[in-house]
Amino acid sequence: MDFKILHALDIENHKEEMVILMEMVLRDNITQNYPSNQAEEYVKKIPRYIDDGSAIVTGAFANGNLVGFSWGYELTIFGERRVHIDMIGVDQDSRKRGIAKKLIELQIDETRKRGIRIIEAMITRDNENSYNWFRSMGFNDERIKVRRDLE
Ligand SMILES: CC(C)(COP(=O)(O)OP(=O)(O)OC[C@H]1O[C@@H](n2cnc3c(N)ncnc32)[C@H](O)[C@@H]1OP(=O)(O)O)[C@@H](O)C(=O)NCCC(=O)NCCS
Repeated sequence: MDFKILHALDIENHKEEMVILMEMVLRDNITQNYPSNQAEEYVKKIPRYIDDGSAIVTGAFANGNLVGFSWGYELTIFGERRVHIDMIGVDQDSRKRGIAKKLIELQIDETRKRGIRIIEAMITRDNENSYNWFRSMGFNDERIKVRRDLE
C-alpha cells in the first residue's frame, strides 16, 4: 500500500476511482437531494484547489489503484487557522486496515508543516461509523448543529 499527498496530475490520472469513492462518501453523509454528477463536479475542481495551495489531498494506492482519499482545505475562523477535512473515504473492501488512519496522519504532517495546529471535520451525527472513527482518531466535539423542520 502506498500513501501520498496528491498533486493535480494524480487527480487527473485517477479521476474515475476518485469519483466512485466520493459518491460513496456523499451517499453515506448527505441526506438532501443533490445532482447525480455532484462527485464528478467536485473532482473536476480539486486540481485547481491543489494548485492554488488551498487544498491538501492525500491518497492510498493498492497496486496502483486509488482505494482511499482525504480532502482537506485551509480556512480561518475568528483568526484561527485550521485545516477542515471535507471528505475522507476508503473503499468498502479495504476498510479496518488502518488506511484512513494513515491518510489523516499524512494530512496532519502537512498541516503542521504549514504551521497550522488545528484540524477539524464536519460529521453527520447519524453516521455512527464516521463519528466513532473520528473520535477514535482524537477528534472531539466542538459545536453541535441543531435543526427544526417547520411544517
Ligand atoms: C470512516 C472511514 C474513512 C474509516 O476508514 P478505515 O480505513 O476503515 O479506518 P481505519 O482502519 O484507518 O481505522 C483506524 C483505527 O480506527 C478504528 N476504527 C475504525 N472504524 C472505527 C469505528 N467505526 N469506530 C471506532 N473505531 C474505528 C480501527 O479499529 C483503527 O484503530 P487501531 O489503529 O487502534 O486498530 C470509512 O469507514 C469510510 O470510508 N466511511 C464512509 C465515508 C465516510 O463516512 N467518511 C467520513 C465522513 S466524510
